[in-house]
Amino acid sequence: MLERLTLPDTHAISIILKDHDTVKALFDRFEAARTATQRDKIIEEALTELKIHAIIEEEIFYPAIRRKVGKDIMNEADEEHHVARVLIAELDATGRQNDHRDAKFKVLSENVRHHIKEEENEVIPKAKALDIDFEALGSELLERKEELKENGIPSDSEHAMVAKAKGRRDTPAAAARKSGTKSDHGRRAH
Ligand SMILES: [Fe+2]
Ligand SMILES: [Fe+2]
Repeated sequence: MLERLTLPDTHAISIILKDHDTVKALFDRFEAARTATQRDKIIEEALTELKIHAIIEEEIFYPAIRRKVGKDIMNEADEEHHVARVLIAELDATGRQNDHRDAKFKVLSENVRHHIKEEENEVIPKAKALDIDFEALGSELLERKEELKENGIPSDSEHAMVAKAKGRRDTPAAAARKSGTKSDHGRRAH
């Protein structure tokens, strides 16, 4: 993308695009990873990156551009963040013992790739037309990133929602496990 070459590193849009490249590279590494240990390390790293990126966008970048970009596009972006946050909360709540962990992360990565595409094709071109100090906005983004890395990431409503479900399993995953058990029994009975 052109912006990556022409904008200074401290420009708010450069910071957003750089974050996108970082998570996409992690998704690629996940696809190529051969062991569960490697995949888990990548999942942990990607979840931290995604949480920090979502926070700096929701707290700083989105409010600065919302009016210019328009309600419809921005509301859709909000909902995409929400879905990602739910999947992230579920991945945080369960570890490798969840037989759907890699699949859940794969779906998260696909959702995020789609969101990144929309952000880069629809949101950012409109945001760029804004007459604001993108360098000052960039400093705010970087400052908040540092703060989150130092002090930790605050919990969100989606983590609370998932915690409230008290470990009840996802409906389709639970059904898959149940039917797997049944057909095993069935096969053994014949
Ligand atoms: Fe976003
Ligand atoms: Fe983004």
